[in-house]
Amino acid sequence: MTSMTMADWQTLSDRINHVAPSATLAVDSKAKAMKAAGVDVIGFGAGEPNFPTPAPIVAAAAAAVRDPRNYRYTPTAGLPELREAIAGKVLRDSGYEVDPSQVVVTNGGKQAVYESFQILLNEGDEVIIPTPYWTSYPEAVKLAGGVPVEVFAGADCNFEPDIDAIEAARTERTKAIIVTTPNNPTGAVWKPETVKAIGEWAVEHHVWVIADEIYEHLNYDDAKTTYIGAAVPAVRDQLLVLNGVAKTYAMPGWRVGWMVAPAEVAKAASKLQGHMTSNVNNISQRAAIEAVSGPLDAVYDMRAAFDKRRRTIVAALNDIEGVHCPTPTGAFYAFADVTALLNRPIGPNETVFANTSELAAALLDEGHVAAVPGEAFGAPGYLRFSYALADNDLIEGMKRMKAWTQA
Ligand SMILES: Cc1ncc(COP(=O)(O)O)c(C=O)c1O
Repeated sequence: MTSMTMADWQTLSDRINHVAPSATLAVDSKAKAMKAAGVDVIGFGAGEPNFPTPAPIVAAAAAAVRDPRNYRYTPTAGLPELREAIAGKVLRDSGYEVDPSQVVVTNGGKQAVYESFQILLNEGDEVIIPTPYWTSYPEAVKLAGGVPVEVFAGADCNFEPDIDAIEAARTERTKAIIVTTPNNPTGAVWKPETVKAIGEWAVEHHVWVIADEIYEHLNYDDAKTTYIGAAVPAVRDQLLVLNGVAKTYAMPGWRVGWMVAPAEVAKAASKLQGHMTSNVNNISQRAAIEAVSGPLDAVYDMRAAFDKRRRTIVAALNDIEGVHCPTPTGAFYAFADVTALLNRPIGPNETVFANTSELAAALLDEGHVAAVPGEAFGAPGYLRFSYALADNDLIEGMKRMKAWTQA
């Protein structure tokens, strides 16, 4: 491929120039490229389960391929059967009723995130983002003309946002807040009191709530997901719940997510989607019907495997001098404080790293271990390790990291 030099007039929009590339995808693609070139890299970068999609879901998709009904455009907001199944799933898991007209099926949870801000924000509206945050939130806010407002909570408080800090960040322009529990990148499951306090605060101050519940079924120890719409029923009129099949059913490549919102909001999202992507691939939607309305047994099996790896990786990380990792109780991420590895000679070349971006790049190049630097999540000084990888790889990767830091 030839690379093109852009002439002065060939400018791209400020909108796209102000967006940072997805750092998580960048680490993952660099690790995959190194692997393709024959380097034996252990990848803790990607947020995707390493399990196959459960067989009954795949069978539903295989049957759908042969059904000519699926060859046509279908309603933008999703197949009626899937919207109904999602409404049923909300009742089963979150314990409250929603109407299928409140559901919009999207091209992965990511599209639901993007659409939420496009339909809610005017230029200059502020969105409070508990930080560390999932890397795409601020970019989706900026793409909608909004202003991300970070409220940080570090390892010292188990990454649990503080309602006083949230209130201190509120201004006349505060339009929305994001709630992500279980959390990416921290793996924290926020306490019921925290979620309830945010819901009540949002009701009191007329702030929209975007609740990203994509990791809802991945809880460990005694932790349980608190659904904000259940904890604070009054918030439902100003609540957009985002979710999808990627993590729960090991289906990241199928690209099915959804938004559940007040009917007028759902209609607006559908109007937007009608000009973007129209309906989600019907084969994937049929598979999602099977996933969402089926039992959760396969999910619980995966969860048990993740739980074992969680214990292994947390112990291994804390065994490395200079690394401190609180025990996460959700999702499949360990978020380690590595500030003690900075500003002193590290690695076989005795390099002094000023920040975690440089540290992660060297860990990949020299140690052949891929982890995502905290800068991608608004949390310099940390590294995120996804433990959705095979047990042996996990153990080998941790061994390498320890050896690299102590070389
Ligand atoms: C917190 C969070 N929300 C949403 C998504 C989007 O998932 P997908 O678009 O694959 O459904 C992810 C994926 O990494 C995530 O971690």
